Amino acid sequence: MKILIVNGPNLNMLGIREPSLYGSATYAQLETYIKQVCGENGIEAEIFQSNHEGAIVDAIQAALGRADGIVINPAAYTHTSIAILDALKAVALPAVEVHLTDIGTREAFRRVSYPGMACIASFAGLGFEGYRSALLLLKQTLENGQPA
Ligand code: DQA
Repeated sequence: MKILIVNGPNLNMLGIREPSLYGSATYAQLETYIKQVCGENGIEAEIFQSNHEGAIVDAIQAALGRADGIVINPAAYTHTSIAILDALKAVALPAVEVHLTDIGTREAFRRVSYPGMACIASFAGLGFEGYRSALLLLKQTLENGQPA
């Protein structure tokens, strides 16, 4: 089973950006964590990060025929990007949304998630653990045909 993990803008700045919100662990550490979770669970991981909306759309489109599902943290594009929502709908692969922080309890403008409208589930506020939850839910869905 192959899963594409997409991380949006400024997540490459983890460890530097707003540590009181996002913690001190770096993006490299997040990649290591994701690879470890995937390795333990028989998942082939392809991890992609971009600060550019169109590049994220391209990566989602390129997953068609190559990946079985998508885990996505669209970062700030969560709250603005109909293009990423449409790309997820276009490929129609099962997708799960992740946010390190709890977007529901931050500024009002973070409460809308466009890409989330094409996702079977969202995990927010769990830090790195949210990626584990998303990967395991996606694996279960792909194996059983429905979310747990
Ligand atoms: C984020 C939450 C977004 O609102 C924010 O723009 C990010 C990161 C998170 O993981 O908590 O860049 O997606």
